[in-house]
Amino acid sequence: MAQYNIKELRLELKRLLNDLCGSARFEQLFSSATIWDWIKVHRKEIPDYISFNFGMTRFVFWDNRYCEVVFKVLINDCDIDYNANEEFIYNKACEYHVEKWFAWMVKVDSYEFGDNKIDFYAMEFCESDCDEITSEIESRHREENESNGVESTEESYDGSEEDMEYLMYSKYDQVSVDDLYNFLREFHVNDTHCGNWGYKDGDLILIDFGGYDRDLMALAEEAAK
Ligand SMILES: Nc1ncnc2c1ncn2[C@@H]1O[C@H](COP(=O)(O)OP(=O)(O)O)[C@@H](O)[C@H]1O
Ligand SMILES: [Mg+2]
Repeated sequence: MAQYNIKELRLELKRLLNDLCGSARFEQLFSSATIWDWIKVHRKEIPDYISFNFGMTRFVFWDNRYCEVVFKVLINDCDIDYNANEEFIYNKACEYHVEKWFAWMVKVDSYEFGDNKIDFYAMEFCESDCDEITSEIESRHREENESNGVESTEESYDGSEEDMEYLMYSKYDQVSVDDLYNFLREFHVNDTHCGNWGYKDGDLILIDFGGYDRDLMALAEEAAK
């Protein structure tokens, strides 16, 4: 099961928000809909020890002196709550005993910034590095070719969902990877390209499993009722 303590996560979140809001007028970020533009202008005001990253739907930030946990908020004003989907999937993964393949994920708190109510989720920190993952894919293909006596071509891999599935089967035992992919298919978790995986102690685990498949959303909504 999860290795987090919600009380400690709340304290950590509060501290980070105080640092962000106090020094960088960060509350503007959370009250505005133009998160990208705000960061472009105010990047220098953000303390050095706070790292952040964006995906298409989420803003992710953490204290890089500890690197144990990241906080995730939605950046888009959209109907789909990818964070809630992710928490739903993590809980299901625990129920199905496949949680070792997922970074733990939990809702921590909601705060109001102006008219915006923001839900903050916490997730286990992982090294997210697509280049490292794709070079691992390349070297595994090379090794496989060598052991089959086939000459390696100059093929390059972009870490697509198919590339990731190849890597997982080549790196881990078939039965447990079958369990993972059966679970992902059953719960319609898509978009599992290399940008959505991270390394934890050298092992690959999913860090973005909120998906965008309609069937997953329907399941998560049903569970939230
Ligand atoms: N658990 C994590 N540990 C470290 N970095 C993370 C973690 N989760 C997300 N990130 C970083 O934030 C980026 C955006 O997060 P992600 O969950 O992929 O959001 P989106 O749904 O917008 O793609 C990721 O590509 C990654 O670089
Ligand atoms: Mg992503």
